Amino acid sequence: MASDLKSDTVGSVVRRTAARLDSDGVPTAKLDAELLVAHVLGVSRAGLAIERDRTLTRREQERVAELADRRAAREPLQYVVGEWGFRRLTLTVDERALIPRPETETVVERCLVLIASLDAPRVLDVGTGSGAIALAIADEHPGARVTGIDVSQDALSLARENAGRTGLEIELLQVDMLAGIPGSDWDLAVSNPPYVRPDEKAGLAPEVVEWEPHVALFDGGHTERLVRDAARALRPGAALVLESFDERARAVAELLRGMGFVDVAVTRDLAGRDRVVEGRRPT
Ligand SMILES: C[S@@+](CC[C@H](N)C(=O)[O-])C[C@H]1O[C@@H](n2cnc3c(N)ncnc32)[C@H](O)[C@@H]1O
Repeated sequence: MASDLKSDTVGSVVRRTAARLDSDGVPTAKLDAELLVAHVLGVSRAGLAIERDRTLTRREQERVAELADRRAAREPLQYVVGEWGFRRLTLTVDERALIPRPETETVVERCLVLIASLDAPRVLDVGTGSGAIALAIADEHPGARVTGIDVSQDALSLARENAGRTGLEIELLQVDMLAGIPGSDWDLAVSNPPYVRPDEKAGLAPEVVEWEPHVALFDGGHTERLVRDAARALRPGAALVLESFDERARAVAELLRGMGFVDVAVTRDLAGRDRVVEGRRPT
């Protein structure tokens, strides 16, 4: 149910929306209220300050109330507003795929460093989801020829929309990575594989466990399979970059070493947590 509508200014609508989200247990109520109002008004969050005394139209107030209802039901803010920033891109996000996370931007950062010396590297993004990693690499390394694979047709349809939206060309294929990754002679394979263990499910926020696709979240041995396959599908000297976290990242690094990868390294995300594991096939 939409809340009672009063003719009101930006400042008071933000306050009212924040109080409503807070009472429904949304952990970042004030920030989310600001982002929802900014979205409805078509301004940035910083732009809200300039609009503070503006009175919202009845239609705008109704729209804020509708979106606040969705957020109060713990739908992720990103799905409610329908788009989200990743690196230099703005991508469509919805329940078809995982919301691209800021820590995954560090994955892209490492990929770009590892292919910087190649004019036209062949890049494989395994479990492409919204297409975030594949599209960001295509955007920031214009010579790269990028293929994204996913088992989920829903995710692939969203990735296709995002390719159209950004005007970037990538190849998208439906492939089950647990049955093996396609092709050979890749210069770089990258993946943010599902890596939540089933016993961690109870600790997940409702925004994650009730809204994001479980095929994108839960570990089914994807990382181990991928490391084994990459040792075959990468050309000598090519790189493998995987997202993981904390102590698991160090275990993945050991796995790479065990499969004969060299130059194995772990990079921290912006929060200082071990996050990105990389290695190269020996030349
Ligand atoms: C953690 S999400 C990553 C999505 C995107 N790359 C990102 O970083 O935002 C993992 C992705 O792997 C896909 N996936 C899960 N199991 C798979 C499988 N067996 N084969 C291929 N893709 C799979 C999911 O559909 C999901 O899109």
